[in-house]
This record gives sequence, C-alpha cells and structure tokens, in this order.
Amino acid sequence: MTPSRAAAEPAWADLAGRTLACCADLAACTEVPGQITRTFLCAPVHDAHARLDTWAAALGLQTREDAAGNWRATRRSAHPAARTLVVGSHLDTVPNAGPYDGVLGVVLGLALMDALQGTPLPYHVELVGFSEEEGVRFGVPFIGSRALIGTADELMGVTDAGGRTVAQAIADYGLDVNTLAEAELKEEVLGYLEMHIEQGPVLEAEGRSLGLVEAIAGQSRLNLTFTGKANHAGTTPMGLRRDALTGASAFVLAAETLARNTPGLVATVGSLTALPGASNVIPGAVHLTLDIRHARDEVRLGALDQLLTRAGQIAEERGLTLTHELRMEEHATPMDPALTALLGEAMSAEGHAATPMVSGAGHDAMLVGQVWPAAMLFLRSPGGLSHHPDEAVLEEDVEAALRMGTRFLHLLAEREEAR
Ligand code: HGY
Ligand code: MN
Ligand code: MN
Repeated sequence: MTPSRAAAEPAWADLAGRTLACCADLAACTEVPGQITRTFLCAPVHDAHARLDTWAAALGLQTREDAAGNWRATRRSAHPAARTLVVGSHLDTVPNAGPYDGVLGVVLGLALMDALQGTPLPYHVELVGFSEEEGVRFGVPFIGSRALIGTADELMGVTDAGGRTVAQAIADYGLDVNTLAEAELKEEVLGYLEMHIEQGPVLEAEGRSLGLVEAIAGQSRLNLTFTGKANHAGTTPMGLRRDALTGASAFVLAAETLARNTPGLVATVGSLTALPGASNVIPGAVHLTLDIRHARDEVRLGALDQLLTRAGQIAEERGLTLTHELRMEEHATPMDPALTALLGEAMSAEGHAATPMVSGAGHDAMLVGQVWPAAMLFLRSPGGLSHHPDEAVLEEDVEAALRMGTRFLHLLAEREEAR
C-alpha cells in the first residue's frame, strides 16, 4: 500500500543537488587548507556545526552540541506517546578525506526532514552528527556514538600523540565534560538509521544505486612495536644487525599473506614509523598499526592470534623484542531484522533490489546497534573509492536514497500508528 505522502512530491532532483552542495560546503571546514581533514573537535568543527545549524533552523529543527561534541538536531512530534527515531552518521574525517564519508549521512538526514515538507510524524526524529568515528586523533573511534549511548566515560583519559586527554580536548573545544552524561539519549528510541556511502566496489560492480546492510564486520585495531638496535649503516655487517624495520616488514607481509589466504579477512598496516629515521642508521625501533576485520568474530580473532604468534616468532628469529597494545575491538554487529526489513520494503517499493550485504567498514551503527534497533543504507561508491579525496557519490543515487528514505519514514509512521 503506498504510504500517505506529503502534500506535494518534493522536488527530488533539486533536493539531491542541495544535499551534495551542503556536503561540498562542509568540506571547506578543514584543518588543512586544500584538503578535507576534520578530526575530533578541531576548530573547524565549530564552523561545520554552525552551517548545519543554519540549514536545520530553516527546517524548524532545534539544534545543540552535546558535551562529546556531537551535533544534535531534533524534530519533535505532537503525538503524545511518541518514541524517537535517530538518524545519523559522523562529521569527523580521516586525513585528506573525501567529502561524503559520514557527512553524507548527516546531510541526508536533514534532506529527509526537508522532503517531509512539514508532514507530522507520530515519532520524534533526532539527527546526530557524531564527533568522532574514525579514531584518528586518539586511536579510539566511536567517542561520539558511545556518548550517545552512555558508554564514553571510560574514554575520557585516553591521550593523543601530544598527551592531551579526550576530556582536555573537549574542554579545549569549549564544552563542559562534566555534562557528558547529558549527551546520552535517554528517550525511548524506536530505532537508528544510518545512510552511508558503501566505500567499496560491490554496488558499482552490480550496477546498483543502493544497498541494504545486514551486518557490519567486526574489527580489531592494534599498535605494535618491534625493537632492535640502532647502529651505523656502513660499519655493521648484515649478520650482526638487529634491524627493527626488516623484522616489521616480515610481519607486514605475513599479515598480507594470511589475509589473502583467508576468505573475507582483511588486514591492513596503515601506519609504520621507523626510528630514528635516518638513511644511514639501522632502524632501532618500528611502531606500526594493525587493522584486521571479518564478518565472523571467530575468524577475525583466530587470525589475530595467528598474527601475534607470528610476530613473536619473527622477533625471536631476529633478536628483536615485541610489544603490542589492543587499541580497539568491536565485534561484528548484525543490523536489526525488523527495521532492516522495513528499509528493504521501502527500497523494493522504489524499485531497488533489497539484497543484503555486509559492511567491511565500521560505522556508528555498530555502537548504536548495541542498544537500539539499527538499520543501514549504502549508496554506491563510484570507483569503490573512499578515505581518499576522489571519493564520490552519484546525484542519481542521492535522489534514490531520498525517495526511498522518505518512503521509509512514512512506512515507519504507519507502523508506529498501528502499535
Ligand atoms: O575505518 C572504518 O571502518 C571507518 O571508515 N571508520
Ligand atoms: Mn571512514
Ligand atoms: Mn564513515
């Protein structure tokens, strides 16, 4: 049955164009001129929130910043027993990022409020622009979504490379960490919707605009350090060296080999620093990161055990020492079947195949989905590219997301009214 729609069909193409224009506008809020880099509570976040405030106010939403630096916008319902639908994604970025990872999901949430054209809903809508999903500054992601669900307290003492704590970063930005508890959403939440670019090649390969996420892969992120002995590059025979970098390199290739030989496993060493870093000094220490993911936790954890064992063997074989620290671990998170089925129904009604897929990328839905029913919609990533300045999205896919997202809101309204 076609859900009751707003008085007149929104101008979908115009709304899609304005959505992309807002993403481009937010890209200007960056720490590094000429690229998009917006890490946790950096100064440009003030500007990003101000721009979102302007767009939200034009739609009659009430906005605020919570103590974790999340951007919040609320559309209240007049319905007496209204529950709350949370729609969100993150506003922070990786270094030299593209303009859509996270941001698109926040702006699409605003655009859906626009598409409603004032249609009353029997549920409140809480839009959230999470302050920290990537984990770039502190090495721990999801600070914003953990604050929303009330589990961020334990992160306040985590320090960044400069020794500043999360709590100090919150104060530096101008927020009061003592009100962190007020960031927790304590209303009755009916569900969480996150719309996000796929960041991978699947939808493009299948010629599809939109994807229905059934689960998000679990991930482990570690810091490892191989320590040998710095020495003179010219006078130290090869057989007398304890070269930390060649040892670390053996580990990097071991991680790649294991992942290549384990279906569905991905392993990445995204950062490696050799010290002291001079061309004529044998590296005495190497710090590196490991990011390992799989849709099934037992495969990921088994692979991690194998890699840490191999790292120890490499260290022993080469006269090195090894230390490692688990910085973050999130188990694989299934999306809520009922809310996902409703999202799939909206997709099908708009002519899109509601074929379920697994997300290799982590998302705030992993955290929010621990306490409330969560559903995720993917938009095609041209070139399968993300975490890169050339990251893109097609306007036609944004329009498709708006059309089916609006239909989803109306289906949800029918379900809530029938409760
Ligand atoms: O790294 C991730 O999975 C996400 O893009 N933060
Ligand atoms: Mn990302
Ligand atoms: Mn993201």
